[in-house]
Amino acid sequence: SAPLKVGIAGLGTVGAGVLRVLRDNADLIAARAGRPIVPVAVAARDRTRERGVPLTGLRWHDDPVALAADPDVDAVAELIGGAEGPARALVEASIGAGRPVVTANKALIAIHGAAIAAAAEARGVTLAFEAAVAGGIPVIKTLREGLAANRIGRIAGILNGTCNYILTVMREQGRGFDEVLADAQALGYAEADPSFDIDGVDAAHKLAILAALAFGRPVDFSALHVEGIRQVSAIDIAFARELGLRIKLLGIASRGPRGIEARVHPCMVPEASPIARVDGVFNAVVIEGDFVGRVMLEGRGAGAGPTASAVVADLIDIARDRRTPVWGAAASALEAAPSVPMAAH
Ligand code: HSE
Repeated sequence: SAPLKVGIAGLGTVGAGVLRVLRDNADLIAARAGRPIVPVAVAARDRTRERGVPLTGLRWHDDPVALAADPDVDAVAELIGGAEGPARALVEASIGAGRPVVTANKALIAIHGAAIAAAAEARGVTLAFEAAVAGGIPVIKTLREGLAANRIGRIAGILNGTCNYILTVMREQGRGFDEVLADAQALGYAEADPSFDIDGVDAAHKLAILAALAFGRPVDFSALHVEGIRQVSAIDIAFARELGLRIKLLGIASRGPRGIEARVHPCMVPEASPIARVDGVFNAVVIEGDFVGRVMLEGRGAGAGPTASAVVADLIDIARDRRTPVWGAAASALEAAPSVPMAAH
């Protein structure tokens, strides 16, 4: 049947990764999607940069928003990033034009997700963001589908690959913070502005999205308690080690008597606990449901391959016309409760 023609905005690490996955796994993707998924157009600033993947035959737009109006594009992948600016404009324009849109943009969904999801639902347009949380780990699908029967009590996780990589290498190799951060940037793990990683903002974006889905309520992102790993020194790590502990940057959201609590900060975890053993760029998410009990997912939380894997999974859903409610099972709760107060710690 007719291919799903995709427009890709942003050709950084993730955008180039998506082109590679669509090319290298084209046959199996077509089989699973029921039709080929074919990139037809791209939008990026620099036409000359070498991206390690051929761009021949792709129509080039300088303005990403033009992808939403390109008559040849069936679905848009927004891989620009940033809560405002062209990324937000493109996602809104795609929804306005009735085009399904996939995004890896955690800042956008964490801050404007409820409003954007409402617009998408009102128009019956798919908005999918599996890649926005924990890179390649299918945590959004797990919450919406696999664990749909459960009331979720708590979610906790290692949600930033850059921080986990830095903490791991500092502990294992005794190297300095700045040097290890430079490695993470070179590996394509870090955000364009790495302070988003090391100050916990990126983890908080992901936690806000998970909490909104798990608890069926939008989360007031500005009310989250957020602390990163800048203050963690080599000495802290060494002391923790002597006590049989490891330092991990965790995002934790739980349902309590006063509403939903959500926070991001460095935690000491016993060396023997499963989450302590999640090292390097790996992320982990622990979900507690009332019937399933505890589920832990682990996988690569950053980088071209894992993030592109999640983006393409969402494109396959669109090609199959497999629809899930944009904001989980909570559309009506969303309207009833504009936001939930957060108790900071
Ligand atoms: N900078 C992010 C991380 C990338 O290090 O986890 C994935 O969102």
